[in-house]
Amino acid sequence: MKPVRHVLTLGDLAVDELKTVLKLGEEIKAEFKEGVRTKRLEGQVLGMIFEKMSLRTRVSFEAGMSHLGGASMLLEEQHIGLGTRESVKDVSRVLSSMVDCVVFRAKLHKSVAEFAQYSTVPVINALTDKSHPCQALADMLTIKEEFGSLDDVSIAWVGDSNNVAASLIEAAAMLGVKIAVSSPVGYRFSDEEVKEMTQQRQPGFELVFHEDPREAVRGANVVYTDVWVSMGQEKEKDKRLEAFKPFQVNAELMALASPDAIFMHCLPARRGLEVTDDVIDSPQSRIVEEAANRMHAQKGLLVWLLEK
Ligand code: CP
Ligand code: NVA
Repeated sequence: MKPVRHVLTLGDLAVDELKTVLKLGEEIKAEFKEGVRTKRLEGQVLGMIFEKMSLRTRVSFEAGMSHLGGASMLLEEQHIGLGTRESVKDVSRVLSSMVDCVVFRAKLHKSVAEFAQYSTVPVINALTDKSHPCQALADMLTIKEEFGSLDDVSIAWVGDSNNVAASLIEAAAMLGVKIAVSSPVGYRFSDEEVKEMTQQRQPGFELVFHEDPREAVRGANVVYTDVWVSMGQEKEKDKRLEAFKPFQVNAELMALASPDAIFMHCLPARRGLEVTDDVIDSPQSRIVEEAANRMHAQKGLLVWLLEK
């Protein structure tokens, strides 16, 4: 029996394990493009708990599991009453006695951590307030496909120091990629968070912070942004929209990046706020490829975790 592994952040993987997951994702994608769908997870079942909305995460896991010969089921929070109808501990122990893996999108990271503590099958974080590891897997796959390799690629993150940024920085650290970050005052990572995200830093990794988004973007190969108001932060909306205004990715900002630069966004996007239409719809935009790679990268993760 394989020991149970959980992926709550990318730091739960060793660097070579992360590279193996990405390679598996690439291989499975190449096969899929040839029309081959090998049933590597035949008979296995994925339980998916969502406490927040989702399009990409839910569909990519569900379609991916189906392509791999397995099945999946959506367990909406209002139906299972996690923590209200029943304790997290009991749901975890019961659910993991029936399914082979659990994907959990939670309001609070600590809910996923508690769930994993009692689960007898692998638990995958499908986004929490702290991290979005599956997104970073797809992002790195997308960047590698674009530039042929991750060597010498530089990423600029413009906007909120949020879950998506945290996992992207963690991935960059583990894969030795340069990243520049520009966030407004009050919305920056703490030293403690930076320390945690960069624990497995590899040669080639550089993390720099810029007050001015233009300095972060100058010469970058990838310009990445995300919403200014994440799910669960709706009450802070007015304050946030004001603070983030100078951090919009528009054509003027994009022009400072490398001529071969691509634009990335995890989606959903608030067009006209963090990004303008002329950027997100431009030939430089890779948002659809990036979203599609969610499925391919997660297939790599599922096969790595579950294949017998
Ligand atoms: N990027 C992402 O996780 O999208 P969803 O919220 O639609 O799953
Ligand atoms: N930062 C966003 C990402 C959505 C995929 C949020 O947490 O709402």
